[in-house]
Amino acid sequence: MNLFHFNCSIAFLFLIVLGGCDSSRDKTLTKWEETGGSKENIRYSSLTQIDTSNVDDLQIAWTYYSENNDSTRYGAMECNPIIIDTILYGVSPKLKLFAINALTGKELWTFNPADSAANKTWHRSSVNMNRGVTYWAEGDDKRIIFTVGPIAMEVNAITGKLITDFGTDGGIHLVNGLGRDSTKVFVAPTSPVMVYKNLFFLSGLVGDETPGHIRAFDVKTGKQKWIFHTIPYPGEAGYETWEDTAAYKHMGSTNSWAGFSLDEKRGILFAPTGNPTSDFYGGQRLGAGLYGNCLLALDAETGKLLWHFQTVHHDVWDMDIPAQPALITVMHEGKLVDAVAQTTKTGFIFLFERETGKPLFPIDEVPVETNTPLVNEKLWPTQPMPRLPKPLVRQSFDLSDLNDIVSDSSYQDIKKRFLSYRSGKMFNPPSKEGTIILPGYDGGAEWGGPAFDPETKLMYINTNEMSWVLHMVDNKPDNKKTRTNLEAGVNLYSQYCMSCHGPELLGGGDYPSIVGAEKKYTTQQFTQLLTTGRRMMPGNNSLTQEEKNAIASYVLSLKNEQKKTYTGPIKKEDGPPKSLYDFTGYNKFLTTEGYPAIKPPWGTLSAVNMNTGELVWKIPFGEFEELKAKGIPATGRENYGGPVVTAGGVLFIGASSDGKFRAINKRTGKILLETDLPAPGVATPSVYEINGKQFIVIACGGSKWGGKSSDAYVAFALPEH
Ligand code: HEC
Repeated sequence: MNLFHFNCSIAFLFLIVLGGCDSSRDKTLTKWEETGGSKENIRYSSLTQIDTSNVDDLQIAWTYYSENNDSTRYGAMECNPIIIDTILYGVSPKLKLFAINALTGKELWTFNPADSAANKTWHRSSVNMNRGVTYWAEGDDKRIIFTVGPIAMEVNAITGKLITDFGTDGGIHLVNGLGRDSTKVFVAPTSPVMVYKNLFFLSGLVGDETPGHIRAFDVKTGKQKWIFHTIPYPGEAGYETWEDTAAYKHMGSTNSWAGFSLDEKRGILFAPTGNPTSDFYGGQRLGAGLYGNCLLALDAETGKLLWHFQTVHHDVWDMDIPAQPALITVMHEGKLVDAVAQTTKTGFIFLFERETGKPLFPIDEVPVETNTPLVNEKLWPTQPMPRLPKPLVRQSFDLSDLNDIVSDSSYQDIKKRFLSYRSGKMFNPPSKEGTIILPGYDGGAEWGGPAFDPETKLMYINTNEMSWVLHMVDNKPDNKKTRTNLEAGVNLYSQYCMSCHGPELLGGGDYPSIVGAEKKYTTQQFTQLLTTGRRMMPGNNSLTQEEKNAIASYVLSLKNEQKKTYTGPIKKEDGPPKSLYDFTGYNKFLTTEGYPAIKPPWGTLSAVNMNTGELVWKIPFGEFEELKAKGIPATGRENYGGPVVTAGGVLFIGASSDGKFRAINKRTGKILLETDLPAPGVATPSVYEINGKQFIVIACGGSKWGGKSSDAYVAFALPEH
C-alpha cells in the first residue's frame, strides 16, 4: 500500500458523501506550487475570498517590473509563476529567474543565467522563451529547476545561487544524450520540467533535424535516467508506422514542447507531442508517423509506454498538440472516472480513461480529402474525431463564412482571393495555389491550456478562429557545381529561414521582417545570431561558417561578398531526405484593414460539461474598440494564455490581444470585471493566498501582436478594509 492510496482511503471516508474518492479533491488546491496550479494542470483554486459579489472591487496589489521597467522592447512573457510559501518565482522577458515576496512584490533575488558557470563552460548564450519553472525539495534542500535555451540548471530556492554540483558546473547541456550528433542538434525546452520523486522530465522546442525524445534526469546529479524515443528505433513499437526505415536516424521534431501532466498516485506521465519535420509536406516521411501528434501515457519511473492516442495521422497542417492535458475526474455512466482531457488546435477535446486510454466518448475515424497535388505525398485517408464534446471552433471555411462586416470593397477583395484558394473542410491538402487552414496554426486551443472546476465538472477553454493561407513552392534540386555566395545564400535562406521570415524577408504573423538587417547587425553579429538564436528564433549549430557567410551576403545585401565564389558544402550529409516542397511562410488570411477574412467570432471562451460533453456556455472573447464604436457586437479576437477558475465562482483570464484582464462568472459566462493591463497578458494567471489574503497574478509581456510590450507582473487583490 503506498502513501497515496492511504491518503485516498482516508479522504474517501470524508468524501464518500460527496461522491467517492476523487483524486482531484484529496488535496488542498489553495496553493500554486506548480505551473498550471498542480501536476494535474487543471488551473483551479479552491480559494473563495474573491467571489462574484466582490470581484469588481479588485485592485492592483503590487506590480513587479522584472527588468526594472527600462525602455527596451521585450519579447513575449508566457510564464505562469509558482508560489512556494511566501515566495513567488518567475522569469523575466530576458530570461532572468527572479524570487519576490508574493505579498508585497518586493524583490528577494534574481539569477541571470548569462552569468552562470554552466553557461560559461559551454560558451553558449542561446536564449529562448520560457513558460515557467519547477520547484523540488527534500528537507532543507530546496531547488528551482530552470531551463534556458539548451541548458537545464538548478538554483537554490532560498539564496538564488546556482547549485554547482548539479550536472557539469551547475547545468546539463541537453544536446547530449539524444542519440544524434550533438553538434547538429538544437533543443530548448520552453515549458517547465515536471518533477516526480527524484526525477524530472523534459523534451522541448527542437530543431528540424532534432528528435523530440522525452527524457528523465536525476534531480540531484543531472544524470539522464531514461529516454523515450518519440521516433521509434528498430524493434520498438511504432517503428513500423514509418515507411522510411531510417527515420529514427534523421527525422526531427515529434517533440513535446507544451509540457507534461503527472498522475502522481499512479506514477503516470502524460506527454502531448507535435508533428514530425517538415510541418507541411510529408512526402519524405510517409506513414502515420508515431509518436507524432500523440497523447502519450508513460510509466514515470521507467519511461515505458503505457498507451498512446494519435490525434492527427500523418500531420501536414502543423496541428501539434499545444497544451498539457488536464487530469480530471468526471462522472461517467454513473461512476466517478479518473480521466485525462486533451485540448487541441483542431478544436476537438479528447477524453480518455487515465489508466487504459479508453475513450470516454466514442471517437470515429472519419474519411478526409486525400487528393493532394503534391508529388510523392500520401495523405492519411481518415482522421480521429470525437462525437463529444463537439468541436469548440469552426472546422471549415466556405464562401458564406467570408467577413462581410467591414465594408463591401473589403469583402470583394477577400472574395476574389478566397476563390483562388483551396477551401472547405479542415485537413484540406496543402497546395501551390494556396490552401486555407482553419482552425489555424495557433488553434483552436493553444498552449495556455484549459481550466477545470472539480466541483461543477465544467472545463473552460479559450480558442482562436483565425484562418491562414498555406502556399507550397518547389524546393528545386540544385546540382550546379560552382556558385556564388549569393546563389548559395538564396538557396540556404529558403531552406533555413524562409519558413519564418517569408520569401521576401518580410516576416509575417509573429516573425519579424529582416529587411534592412544590415543597419542593425554587423556580419559577425549576424552570423552569431544564426548560431545562438534568440527567443522564438532557433539557433542553428549545423550551418558552417561558409554557409552563414553566404546567407549573410544575401540578407545583409553585401554586394562584394555576393559575387565571390561560394566555398562551403553543397550537399548536407546525414540530413533527412530533402523535402520536394517548401512553404512560403505563416500568412494569416486577412482583409486589407487587417481583420480576419472569416466572419466573427475570432476568439471565444467556452464552458463544457465534461460529464456529458455538452457545451454550457460560449462567449466571444475580446473586442476591437473601433468596431464596437460602429455598433458591431463583440467579435472576439486572438488570444494566447489560459484561464484559471476558482471556488469563489470566478474565472480569471488575460490572454486577449485587446490587453484586458477579465473576471467572468464561471456559471453563466457573464463578464464581471474588465481592466487594462500594462501590455497584453499573454500568459496564464496564478492564484494564491498569503496571510488570509487572496491574490491573482499575471505576466503582462505583450509583444505578441507587435503592440505594447512590458516586463510587468501584476497582482490583484481586494482592498483592505
Ligand atoms: C522558427 C522561425 C525562425 C527561423 C527558422 C528563423 N528565424 Fe530569424 N527570427 C525569428 C524570430 C521569432 C525572431 C525575433 C527574435 C526575437 O524576438 O528576438 C527572429 C529574428 C531574426 C533577426 C533579427 C531581426 C531584428 O530585427 O533584430 C534576424 C537578422 C534573423 N532572424 C535572421 C534569420 C535568418 C538569416 C534565418 C535563417 C538562417 C532565420 N532568421 C531563421 C524566427 C525565425
